[in-house]
Order: sequence, then structure tokens, then C-alpha cells
Amino acid sequence: MDLLAVQGLTKRYAGVTALSDVSFTLPEGEILGLIGPNGAGKSTLFGLLSGMIPRTSGRILYRGVDISRWPPYRRCHAGLVQTFQLARGFPDLTVEQNVRVGRTFGVRGRDRHSDPLSVDEILTITDLSDRRSRKGNELTLAGRKRLEVARALATAPRLLLLDEVMAGLNPAELDEVVGMIQRIHARGISLLVTEHVVESLFRLVHRVLVLHHGQLLFSGNIQQAGQDPAVLEAYLGQAEPAAPSVA
Ligand SMILES: Nc1ncnc2c1ncn2[C@@H]1O[C@H](COP(=O)(O)OP(=O)(O)OP(=O)(O)O)[C@@H](O)[C@H]1O
Ligand SMILES: [Mg+2]
Repeated sequence: MDLLAVQGLTKRYAGVTALSDVSFTLPEGEILGLIGPNGAGKSTLFGLLSGMIPRTSGRILYRGVDISRWPPYRRCHAGLVQTFQLARGFPDLTVEQNVRVGRTFGVRGRDRHSDPLSVDEILTITDLSDRRSRKGNELTLAGRKRLEVARALATAPRLLLLDEVMAGLNPAELDEVVGMIQRIHARGISLLVTEHVVESLFRLVHRVLVLHHGQLLFSGNIQQAGQDPAVLEAYLGQAEPAAPSVA
């Protein structure tokens, strides 16, 4: 059984179709990539999956159960959790307190695939151990991005949705995030990861979804994505990001 099966998912705002009839599956254990130009609908898809944005139509099956009408907290307690493109940590709490808030409110008695990670393990995985007593607003951008991930990890996710945790980082920081995502995956957590930094993303994933104008243009392995005419056309004329290159 797939961990996630999305069927005909659609989101319309007045005058704008942000996501149109998108279908795909994600088997347990995969890191699946999601790319597409600005405004393609990537964050909208994340919001629909986490429940932060109500869908217009379509179905979301999680572990075989239709969760389309579940509120966000119920999806979170079931292990389906997103991070936000603009980090939403508590700026006046320390790093450790931020993680403990996630633990307190994000974890409820449920059928988990494993025990929740301890706070120390989460801080190690996200490389924040030495900043645990710092306040959220004292962190650099790279630190705030990792804190966003740490807060999500505190809820003991089974499927973690990462929305642009690499944006704005320098090459050394990008390498750290790649390592962090590999450590998360090694703990048995499946991931859907969206990034404009395709070079770094393609170090993590074999398979990618490509969105454009709310439509799923392509789903398949990253080598084929770099040669697909529709994918290339979607990226042509865009200064940023570059067309995905064949890894
Ligand atoms: N609340 C809203 N009301 C109206 N339109 C919206 C709303 N939220 C998003 N949109 C529109 O939906 C489309 C998809 O936006 P979305 O944020 O999902 O794109 P994205 O792929 O995440 O882009 P980026 O790469 O810039 O983060 C855009 O045209 C956007 O303007
Ligand atoms: Mg976005």
C-alpha cells in the first residue's frame, strides 16, 4: 500500500486555479522531489496535504485512509506534517523550547511506526545542539530553516513535507541540509521535498514531480525529467531556476 495516494487534487481561488487535477503516489520509504517554476502550485499542494489549505476537489489517501476532510492537527497526529516556506518558529522561545512545543502539541497516542525521536536526537539530526539555548530570533537564516525542520520532527512524522528549506543558503549550508535530510530519511521517515535548488535536491531523490501552472507536467526519474520536452519548455525563459540538468 502506498503511504500517500493523491487523486485529482484541485484548488481553485476566485479566478485562479492554483492546483488542477493532480494525481500521484508516494510509497513508504521514498524521498520524492517536487519542482516547478515560481507560482507552479508547490506550496499549495503542501497546504492541501497538511490540511492548512482546504481543497476544492479530489482525494488524499494516507495509509489507505481518505483524510481529505481531516483538520491539520489530526493529520499531524497521524504523522503527516509540513514545514513552511517562511519559517514559523517561535522567535522568543529557545531552540529547545521550540522543539518541546512541537513535542507537546504534535504527538498524541497513536499507531506510530517508531518511537518519537528524543529532543537530543532531533537537535543532533538538525545540527542545532550547540544552539539549543539560543532564542529563535538569534539564529541565522540557515539556523531558522533547520529549526523549522526540528519543530516538525518533534511531532514524530511518518511523512514529512519540506517546503524550500534550502532557499537562500550558501553552498556549505546546502550541503548541511542535504546531510540533514539523509539523516531524517535514515530514521525511517518518508519525505516530499520541494526546492528550487535542483542540483542539491537531485542528490537526494530518484523520482521527481514537476508542476507548472498548477498542473502535473511530469512524474518519473530525474534523468528523464531533464530530457522531457514539456519540462524543458516550462523552465525555458526562466532566469531562476535553471532547467533541471541531468544528474
Ligand atoms: N490565497 C491565495 N489566493 C489566491 N491565489 C493564491 C493564493 N495562494 C496562492 N495563490 C496562487 O496560486 C498559485 C500557486 O501558488 P504557490 O504558492 O502554490 O506556488 P509555488 O509553486 O509554491 O511558488 P514558489 O516557488 O514561488 O514558492 C499562484 O498563482 C499564486 O498566486
Ligand atoms: Mg512555494
